[in-house]
Amino acid sequence: MKPFEFISSKPEETIEFSKSLAKLLKAGDVIALEGDLGAGKTTFTKGLALGLEIKKNVNSPTFTIIKEYQGRLPLYHMDVYRVEDSFEDLGFDEYFDGNGVTVVEWAHLIAEQLPEELLTIYLYLGENGSRRLVLEPKGQRYEELCKEILL
Ligand SMILES: Nc1ncnc2c1ncn2[C@@H]1O[C@H](COP(=O)(O)OP(=O)(O)OP(=O)(O)O)[C@@H](O)[C@H]1O
Ligand SMILES: [Mg+2]
Repeated sequence: MKPFEFISSKPEETIEFSKSLAKLLKAGDVIALEGDLGAGKTTFTKGLALGLEIKKNVNSPTFTIIKEYQGRLPLYHMDVYRVEDSFEDLGFDEYFDGNGVTVVEWAHLIAEQLPEELLTIYLYLGENGSRRLVLEPKGQRYEELCKEILL
């Protein structure tokens, strides 16, 4: 099967993309973001927040692992870069099973604690500020979501 891909040529395009994705999201949806430092994971999350009608600016404070924002649905923004023990239970489950959408930067660092079904998005740095976004759905819900957003 051909992977689901999107090329973004500038930050605004990444934001537009995640903003439209956010409009399709439901409570309990989980999105994992993978990519090098500066690949655009937080930028992507800003678009999600806009699409969820969140008014506050999403940022990435260095030492906060989980931040919660209120919008059409709550958004739980996790950045697990600084989680030292991948098994350390910081109550992630309550967020994954909660009433909102969860987005996790550096999700593979807590691989053992992630839900079985989720949408992983890899962000790859390209030339001249472009980014290649590769969507990898796990589970029927997320496969349908990918079809809906990219068809
Ligand atoms: N096409 C693009 N999509 C997203 N961001 C882009 C793009 N082109 C340039 N950028 C810039 O790249 C930077 C991405 O930073 P961002 O904080 O989103 O990355 P990150 O993956 O969250 O990094 P970290 O691993 O440090 O959390 C921003 O300064 C953004 O403006
Ligand atoms: Mg970030």
